[in-house]
Amino acid sequence: MAAVKKPLLEDYHLLSYDVLDSTNEEAKRLADGGASHGAVIWAKRQTDGKGRMGRDWVSPEGNLYVSVLLSPDCTLQDCSQLSFVAAVATLESLKAIIPPENELRCKWPNDILLNGRKLGGILLEAFTTQLEGGGERQWVAVGVGVNVDSYPENVRFPATCVRESGVELVSAKIILSRFISNFIHCYDVWAEEGFEPLRAHWLDHAYCYGEPVEVHLGDEACAGVFTDIDSNGRMELTLEDESVKLVSAGEVIYAESD
Ligand code: BTN
Repeated sequence: MAAVKKPLLEDYHLLSYDVLDSTNEEAKRLADGGASHGAVIWAKRQTDGKGRMGRDWVSPEGNLYVSVLLSPDCTLQDCSQLSFVAAVATLESLKAIIPPENELRCKWPNDILLNGRKLGGILLEAFTTQLEGGGERQWVAVGVGVNVDSYPENVRFPATCVRESGVELVSAKIILSRFISNFIHCYDVWAEEGFEPLRAHWLDHAYCYGEPVEVHLGDEACAGVFTDIDSNGRMELTLEDESVKLVSAGEVIYAESD
């Protein structure tokens, strides 16, 4: 798979491919092969795109598939904050393009919604490589998929694409270029000021924030009011008895009150 390489701002460079199995997989191969922090891997289509929880991410040409390879100087737990960094960067890139009468939201843990339907998703994968002199290097591949031209039918959560918002002149490449500059900015804010500004920005645009929700994981469901996210990206649910439950994974559903 041949890539076209282009330097970007600061430590970053763009690697463009016509086709890849998965941009996240390519990020891992690049890290194994000695790549540096800041590789932005973009493919026009993927043959084996991956979603969260082992699901497939259908990846025809026309939509956006990008991963950023990072080697952040933080604990593994704090790495989870990077999916919120990517969500804010993606949301801001889309806000600049999508007509304002549409509603864009971040849905916990890492979806982007347009008018209540899934527009994009983020897959964060942390891994390590061995250093030559011994020891390990910590890496994170932050993969972002946005439905630009098309979206899958018959999926668990109804989907949509950027074109459905009424925008006429748009392409994956236009969104990519905005995403790159927003991501570089958001990552700098995160590295210099910590999670708080990104957390606040994400919550400002969060689906069901302050509302009653049900979080489903497998056969289990938990109901409460969505009151916060913590520094590990866990959802804070305030239950009926006022106790607080932290949830690490699951599918959020708006729970209508009686
Ligand atoms: C989800 O909502 O389940 C997350 C979807 C993440 C899809 C993106 S597309 C770019 C990157 N490469 C992949 O194989 N997956 C992520």
